Amino acid sequence: MERTAIYPGSFDPVTNGHLDIIERGLQLFDRIIVTILENPAKNSLFTVEKRTELLRESLKNLNGNLEIASYSGLLVDYAVKRNAQAILRGMRAVSDFEYEFQMALMNRKLNRDIQTVFLMTGLRWIFTSSSIIKEAVQFGGDIKSMVPPAVYRELMKKYNLKK
Ligand code: PNS
Repeated sequence: MERTAIYPGSFDPVTNGHLDIIERGLQLFDRIIVTILENPAKNSLFTVEKRTELLRESLKNLNGNLEIASYSGLLVDYAVKRNAQAILRGMRAVSDFEYEFQMALMNRKLNRDIQTVFLMTGLRWIFTSSSIIKEAVQFGGDIKSMVPPAVYRELMKKYNLKK
């Protein structure tokens, strides 16, 4: 049986922390579907189309069975639709735990057949997140080492900053 995982997120935008999880996830799963979903708690900076484009550009050098998708609706419904057995999530520090725990339990309540698998974020990326990167960059902070090159270029453009 092919083991498929959905790697869901806002990806607004994708960061090196996400790439690390995808790369390591590919060691566990035969196929990963990186899926942009709506997080009602967040206002997005980039459109779904732009986020898809940035994911495509950033993942192009990764070897493995990867797909990029977007979905409007419940994550577990999308997992069923795509015959995925698992949801892959990265976990950073303790601060992530409560939210991730709540989401994993809710998803389990909604569908007991889909398992959530957590990978600890690589130590290098433990302090980064799309939100904190967006905050730093808009005040001129140097975030170049934290995001893929295409994302860096797009953030510089968005905030009218010089590369
Ligand atoms: O990158 P994020 O913002 O932490 O990702 C959160 C996301 C998009 C995975 C989550 O909000 C989500 O699954 N949204 C789709 C709706 C859903 O199924 N929510 C979880 C059960 S209520």
